[in-house]
Amino acid sequence: MDMLLFSLNRDTNMPLYEQLYEGIKEAIIHQKIAVGEKLPSKRRLSDFLNISQTTIELAYAQLLAEGYIASKPRVGYFVEDIAELPFIEKTITHTPDTPKKHTYKIDFSPGKIDEDSFPFTIWRKYAKDLIDLHSKELLQIGDRQGEYELRSQIASYLYQSRGIHCTAEQIVIGSGTEQLMPFILRLFNQASIALENPGYSAIPRNQLDHAVIPVDVDADGLLVDQLEKTEANLVYITPSHQFPTGAVLSAARRAQLLKWAAGKVSRYIIEDDYDSEFRYIGKPIPALHSLDQNEKVIYMSTFTKSLMPSLRVAYFVLPPALLARYNEIFSYYSATVPRFDQHILAHFMKDGHFSKHLNRMRKIYRKKHDKLLSILTKHYPTIGVSGDVAGMHILIQVPHSKDEQELQKIAKENDISILPLSNYLLTPVQAEFPTFLLGFGGIPIEEIEAYVDALMMAWSIRKN
Ligand SMILES: Cc1ncc(COP(=O)(O)O)c(C=O)c1O
Repeated sequence: MDMLLFSLNRDTNMPLYEQLYEGIKEAIIHQKIAVGEKLPSKRRLSDFLNISQTTIELAYAQLLAEGYIASKPRVGYFVEDIAELPFIEKTITHTPDTPKKHTYKIDFSPGKIDEDSFPFTIWRKYAKDLIDLHSKELLQIGDRQGEYELRSQIASYLYQSRGIHCTAEQIVIGSGTEQLMPFILRLFNQASIALENPGYSAIPRNQLDHAVIPVDVDADGLLVDQLEKTEANLVYITPSHQFPTGAVLSAARRAQLLKWAAGKVSRYIIEDDYDSEFRYIGKPIPALHSLDQNEKVIYMSTFTKSLMPSLRVAYFVLPPALLARYNEIFSYYSATVPRFDQHILAHFMKDGHFSKHLNRMRKIYRKKHDKLLSILTKHYPTIGVSGDVAGMHILIQVPHSKDEQELQKIAKENDISILPLSNYLLTPVQAEFPTFLLGFGGIPIEEIEAYVDALMMAWSIRKN
């Protein structure tokens, strides 16, 4: 071959050698240069294209390494037969446009936390220290149950704050309640699981091949009488603050539920204690696990509410009797939370920052909670309120001629996101009034009144 003509662009970020390499490669692939043809010598091509010989050397070396050309010592470079090389024609694939998720001007969803109070400075310090001092050790794969340091911190936190006695060996860390739930279910073959109705919607989505049995909830929590009449041998429950109704499982029902579980070897209770840190009325509710004498409770919790949803750290505590089975099934699994994040969190807890953060957040959420309730009682007395003893949302009952779906639609048209109770029902239960979850965690305190007013105005409910 006499010469290769390429237009090289000196104004882009792409190095010249790469442009040359791409150009020759394309020409070979599309058979514009025949198999066996000799490429121009580096010196001649360098004169012709007015670029350095080193640039050409780099391009030829890359083509050589990838098998597009072969070198014959002291003779030159020749185009290889690439018919056998796997080659995929570059095509621009157009994925269908997925509509961007709309960000509402006013968002009452229950999953939001306060964004202004996160201790970024402290978090950054632990992240930096970890990278500066321990980065090499943390490059290798970690413990599949989660880092021992974090599990020890969680064990001592559970003992101090929830009265739970457990060891780090019983704890399994994963990237969220939703992700851990199928792990728990895999420990039980063919079990049917009873779920609260209404209840946390992520659970039925993850029930694998287990039959789901809805069990109703009233002001005292799960109807254990109803559970007793089912075939279920597992029950998922949020006893400290039922999601979404906010009911607290009464002492009598707690005893009844623990008795139900003790009645058969195959029965277990999955206790989701997702937001017990934030309680506004009365003393903290003891975890069901702390009352259990028969090791029948699989306790689970998360840092989603207490720290941040994006951290993706949740955990469960297995009763000793289930540990062997867990180890057998999950011996090939790896932890799903990055080791760096686990260690940042472990240090944050060890040095007392987690407790400090919780104390601070409790005050902040209490203020928001009190403000929301006072606005509703003072200005909108027709609106019923329930589920207001804990957590980061309350329930409102709205006497209205329109139903939940219509009211939600009107809210959306006014750029307000609000979720109806029916979103959380496994089987339809007719509520007396349209009922909605009013999340307040993410709303700046100074905006609460304006946001409530906007919602009520959209629903044509007059302010008193
Ligand atoms: C009942 C319940 N459990 C757990 C969680 C947290 O889930 P995750 O740990 O997957 O963020 C939530 C969500 O906010 C919840 O409402």
